[in-house]
Amino acid sequence: MTRDTHRVITIDGPAGAGKSTIARLLAHRLGYLYLDTGAMYRAVALAAKDKGLDKEDRELVGQLANSVSIAFVGDPDNPKILLWGKDVTDKIRVPEIDMLSSAISAIPEVREAMVRLQREMAQGRDLVAEGRDMGTVVFPWARPKFFLTASLDVRAERRLKERQERGQKASLVEVRQEMEKRDSQDQSRAVAPLRPAPDAVVIDTSHMSIEEVLAEILVMIKGMD
Ligand code: DC
Repeated sequence: MTRDTHRVITIDGPAGAGKSTIARLLAHRLGYLYLDTGAMYRAVALAAKDKGLDKEDRELVGQLANSVSIAFVGDPDNPKILLWGKDVTDKIRVPEIDMLSSAISAIPEVREAMVRLQREMAQGRDLVAEGRDMGTVVFPWARPKFFLTASLDVRAERRLKERQERGQKASLVEVRQEMEKRDSQDQSRAVAPLRPAPDAVVIDTSHMSIEEVLAEILVMIKGMD
Protein backbone atom coordinates (compact mmCIF):
# COMPACT_ATOMS: atom_id res chain seq x y z
CA MET A 1 0.00 0.00 0.00
CA THR A 2 1.50 3.31 -0.99
CA ARG A 3 0.71 6.49 0.84
CA ASP A 4 1.87 9.95 0.13
CA THR A 5 1.93 13.06 2.25
CA HIS A 6 -1.27 14.53 0.87
CA ARG A 7 -4.35 14.85 2.97
CA VAL A 8 -7.29 12.51 2.52
CA ILE A 9 -10.65 13.15 4.18
CA THR A 10 -13.12 10.27 3.95
CA ILE A 11 -16.90 10.36 3.98
CA ASP A 12 -18.62 6.98 4.17
CA GLY A 13 -22.19 5.96 4.84
CA PRO A 14 -25.34 4.44 3.40
CA ALA A 15 -27.25 5.75 0.38
CA GLY A 16 -29.14 8.99 0.92
CA ALA A 17 -27.21 10.08 4.02
CA GLY A 18 -25.98 13.21 2.22
CA LYS A 19 -22.46 12.01 1.41
CA SER A 20 -22.27 13.23 -2.19
CA THR A 21 -23.59 16.70 -1.51
CA ILE A 22 -21.39 17.17 1.53
CA ALA A 23 -18.27 15.65 -0.04
CA ARG A 24 -18.66 17.85 -3.11
CA LEU A 25 -19.15 21.04 -1.06
CA LEU A 26 -16.33 20.19 1.31
CA ALA A 27 -13.91 19.46 -1.55
CA HIS A 28 -14.87 22.76 -3.18
CA ARG A 29 -14.43 24.68 0.09
CA LEU A 30 -11.01 23.18 0.76
CA GLY A 31 -9.83 23.16 -2.86
CA TYR A 32 -9.42 19.37 -2.72
CA LEU A 33 -10.23 16.77 -5.36
CA TYR A 34 -13.66 15.15 -4.99
CA LEU A 35 -13.61 11.38 -5.53
CA ASP A 36 -17.00 9.70 -5.98
CA THR A 37 -16.16 6.02 -5.65
CA GLY A 38 -19.81 4.91 -5.90
CA ALA A 39 -19.80 6.22 -9.47
CA MET A 40 -16.90 3.86 -10.21
CA TYR A 41 -18.82 0.77 -9.01
CA ARG A 42 -21.80 2.06 -10.98
CA ALA A 43 -19.69 2.32 -14.14
CA VAL A 44 -18.52 -1.29 -13.74
CA ALA A 45 -22.14 -2.35 -13.22
CA LEU A 46 -23.18 -0.55 -16.41
CA ALA A 47 -20.31 -2.14 -18.33
CA ALA A 48 -21.38 -5.60 -17.06
CA LYS A 49 -24.95 -4.92 -18.09
CA ASP A 50 -23.95 -3.69 -21.55
CA LYS A 51 -21.89 -6.85 -22.04
CA GLY A 52 -24.77 -9.01 -20.86
CA LEU A 53 -22.76 -10.51 -18.00
CA ASP A 54 -24.45 -12.38 -15.16
CA LYS A 55 -23.95 -10.33 -11.96
CA GLU A 56 -23.13 -13.55 -10.11
CA ASP A 57 -20.32 -14.44 -12.52
CA ARG A 58 -17.44 -13.56 -10.28
CA GLU A 59 -14.75 -14.45 -12.79
CA LEU A 60 -16.08 -12.50 -15.77
CA VAL A 61 -17.25 -9.47 -13.79
CA GLY A 62 -13.91 -9.49 -11.95
CA GLN A 63 -12.01 -9.56 -15.27
CA LEU A 64 -14.17 -6.75 -16.57
CA ALA A 65 -13.43 -4.58 -13.52
CA ASN A 66 -9.72 -5.15 -14.11
CA SER A 67 -9.88 -4.15 -17.77
CA VAL A 68 -12.39 -1.32 -17.62
CA SER A 69 -11.34 2.26 -18.38
CA ILE A 70 -12.91 4.78 -15.99
CA ALA A 71 -12.06 8.47 -15.78
CA PHE A 72 -13.51 11.62 -14.23
CA VAL A 73 -13.43 14.75 -16.38
CA GLY A 74 -14.74 18.31 -16.51
CA ASP A 75 -15.90 20.51 -13.63
CA PRO A 76 -14.14 19.14 -10.51
CA ASP A 77 -17.20 19.96 -8.36
CA ASN A 78 -19.51 18.12 -10.68
CA PRO A 79 -17.36 15.71 -12.68
CA LYS A 80 -18.56 13.64 -15.59
CA ILE A 81 -17.66 9.98 -15.54
CA LEU A 82 -16.32 8.35 -18.66
CA LEU A 83 -16.53 4.62 -19.29
CA TRP A 84 -14.20 3.64 -22.13
CA GLY A 85 -14.15 7.30 -23.09
CA LYS A 86 -17.94 7.67 -23.24
CA ASP A 87 -19.90 9.94 -20.90
CA VAL A 88 -22.14 7.68 -18.75
CA THR A 89 -22.89 10.22 -15.99
CA ASP A 90 -26.67 10.05 -16.44
CA LYS A 91 -26.84 6.39 -17.43
CA ILE A 92 -25.41 5.21 -14.11
CA ARG A 93 -28.01 7.10 -12.01
CA VAL A 94 -30.97 4.80 -12.57
CA PRO A 95 -32.60 2.33 -10.15
CA GLU A 96 -31.37 -0.74 -12.05
CA ILE A 97 -27.76 0.41 -11.66
CA ASP A 98 -28.35 1.27 -7.96
CA MET A 99 -29.04 -2.41 -7.33
CA LEU A 100 -26.55 -3.84 -9.84
CA SER A 101 -23.65 -1.75 -8.52
CA SER A 102 -24.40 -2.97 -5.01
CA ALA A 103 -24.46 -6.60 -6.22
CA ILE A 104 -21.20 -6.49 -8.19
CA SER A 105 -19.45 -4.50 -5.44
CA ALA A 106 -19.58 -7.63 -3.28
CA ILE A 107 -17.20 -9.44 -5.69
CA PRO A 108 -13.68 -9.35 -4.16
CA GLU A 109 -11.94 -9.03 -7.57
CA VAL A 110 -14.11 -6.03 -8.41
CA ARG A 111 -13.22 -4.38 -5.11
CA GLU A 112 -9.49 -5.05 -5.57
CA ALA A 113 -9.57 -3.44 -9.02
CA MET A 114 -11.50 -0.39 -7.77
CA VAL A 115 -9.35 0.07 -4.68
CA ARG A 116 -6.23 0.05 -6.89
CA LEU A 117 -7.76 2.61 -9.23
CA GLN A 118 -8.96 4.81 -6.35
CA ARG A 119 -5.49 4.88 -4.79
CA GLU A 120 -3.96 5.71 -8.18
CA MET A 121 -6.40 8.58 -8.65
CA ALA A 122 -5.53 9.86 -5.16
CA GLN A 123 -1.76 9.90 -5.72
CA GLY A 124 -0.29 13.33 -5.15
CA ARG A 125 -3.66 14.95 -4.44
CA ASP A 126 -5.44 16.32 -1.40
CA LEU A 127 -8.86 14.77 -1.62
CA VAL A 128 -12.29 14.17 -0.18
CA ALA A 129 -13.16 10.54 -0.90
CA GLU A 130 -16.75 9.40 -0.68
CA GLY A 131 -18.03 5.82 -0.55
CA ARG A 132 -18.58 2.83 1.73
CA ASP A 133 -15.06 1.68 2.61
CA MET A 134 -12.96 4.82 2.25
CA GLY A 135 -12.06 5.06 5.95
CA THR A 136 -11.93 1.33 6.64
CA VAL A 137 -10.07 -0.08 3.63
CA VAL A 138 -8.99 2.30 0.88
CA PHE A 139 -7.50 5.17 2.89
CA PRO A 140 -7.14 3.84 6.46
CA TRP A 141 -4.63 6.62 7.19
CA ALA A 142 -7.12 9.38 6.27
CA ARG A 143 -7.78 12.05 8.86
CA PRO A 144 -10.43 13.03 9.66
CA LYS A 145 -12.91 10.33 8.73
CA PHE A 146 -16.64 10.89 8.71
CA PHE A 147 -19.53 8.46 8.61
CA LEU A 148 -22.82 10.07 7.66
CA THR A 149 -26.03 8.35 8.47
CA ALA A 150 -29.76 9.15 8.66
CA SER A 151 -32.96 7.26 9.33
CA LEU A 152 -34.25 5.06 6.52
CA ASP A 153 -37.37 7.22 6.16
CA VAL A 154 -35.40 10.42 5.75
CA ARG A 155 -32.96 8.83 3.31
CA ALA A 156 -35.77 7.38 1.22
CA GLU A 157 -37.49 10.75 1.04
CA ARG A 158 -34.27 12.43 -0.07
CA ARG A 159 -33.68 9.80 -2.77
CA LEU A 160 -37.29 10.09 -3.99
CA LYS A 161 -36.85 13.83 -4.36
CA GLU A 162 -33.62 13.32 -6.32
CA ARG A 163 -35.34 10.86 -8.64
CA GLN A 164 -38.25 13.21 -9.20
CA GLU A 165 -35.85 16.04 -9.98
CA ARG A 166 -34.26 13.83 -12.62
CA GLY A 167 -37.70 13.20 -14.10
CA GLN A 168 -37.74 9.54 -12.98
CA LYS A 169 -40.97 8.04 -11.74
CA ALA A 170 -40.91 6.37 -8.34
CA SER A 171 -42.96 5.86 -5.20
CA LEU A 172 -41.73 6.34 -1.65
CA VAL A 173 -42.56 2.73 -0.77
CA GLU A 174 -40.54 1.44 -3.73
CA VAL A 175 -37.54 3.67 -3.04
CA ARG A 176 -37.60 2.76 0.65
CA GLN A 177 -37.68 -0.98 -0.11
CA GLU A 178 -34.83 -0.76 -2.63
CA MET A 179 -32.78 1.28 -0.22
CA GLU A 180 -33.30 -1.17 2.62
CA LYS A 181 -32.24 -4.05 0.39
CA ARG A 182 -29.17 -2.20 -0.87
CA ASP A 183 -28.09 -1.20 2.68
CA SER A 184 -28.45 -4.76 3.83
CA GLN A 185 -26.38 -6.05 0.85
CA ASP A 186 -23.70 -3.41 1.41
CA GLN A 187 -23.54 -4.10 5.16
CA SER A 188 -23.50 -7.87 4.99
CA ARG A 189 -20.96 -8.56 2.24
CA ALA A 190 -17.86 -10.43 3.32
CA VAL A 191 -15.32 -7.97 1.88
CA ALA A 192 -15.23 -4.32 2.99
CA PRO A 193 -18.78 -4.16 4.37
CA LEU A 194 -20.33 -0.77 4.96
CA ARG A 195 -19.44 0.28 8.50
CA PRO A 196 -17.82 3.22 10.25
CA ALA A 197 -14.06 3.05 10.77
CA PRO A 198 -13.24 2.86 14.50
CA ASP A 199 -11.81 6.39 14.31
CA ALA A 200 -14.65 7.87 12.23
CA VAL A 201 -16.84 10.69 13.50
CA VAL A 202 -20.43 9.52 13.04
CA ILE A 203 -22.95 12.24 12.15
CA ASP A 204 -26.68 11.55 12.02
CA THR A 205 -27.97 13.97 9.38
CA SER A 206 -31.67 13.06 9.79
CA HIS A 207 -32.59 16.42 11.26
CA MET A 208 -29.77 18.55 9.93
CA SER A 209 -29.57 20.82 6.91
CA ILE A 210 -26.69 20.52 4.45
CA GLU A 211 -25.26 23.79 5.79
CA GLU A 212 -25.36 22.47 9.36
CA VAL A 213 -23.57 19.23 8.45
CA LEU A 214 -20.94 21.10 6.46
CA ALA A 215 -20.40 23.59 9.30
CA GLU A 216 -19.96 20.76 11.84
CA ILE A 217 -17.47 19.00 9.61
CA LEU A 218 -15.48 22.18 8.97
CA VAL A 219 -15.27 22.88 12.70
CA MET A 220 -13.92 19.38 13.31
CA ILE A 221 -11.38 19.70 10.51
CA LYS A 222 -10.18 23.04 11.90
CA GLY A 223 -9.89 21.50 15.35
CA MET A 224 -7.56 18.84 13.98
CA ASP A 225 -5.21 21.21 12.13
O1 DC B 1 -22.62 5.68 -3.37
P1 DC B 1 -23.44 5.00 -4.45
O2 DC B 1 -24.88 4.85 -4.11
O3 DC B 1 -23.25 5.68 -5.77
O4 DC B 1 -22.82 3.52 -4.58
C1 DC B 1 -23.37 2.53 -5.41
C2 DC B 1 -23.01 1.15 -4.87
O5 DC B 1 -21.61 0.93 -5.03
C3 DC B 1 -23.29 0.91 -3.39
O6 DC B 1 -24.58 0.36 -3.19
C4 DC B 1 -22.21 -0.05 -2.97
C5 DC B 1 -21.08 0.21 -3.92
N1 DC B 1 -19.98 0.97 -3.33
C6 DC B 1 -19.06 0.26 -2.61
O7 DC B 1 -19.22 -0.94 -2.41
N2 DC B 1 -17.95 0.87 -2.11
C7 DC B 1 -17.77 2.19 -2.29
N3 DC B 1 -16.67 2.76 -1.81
C8 DC B 1 -18.74 2.96 -3.00
C9 DC B 1 -19.84 2.32 -3.48
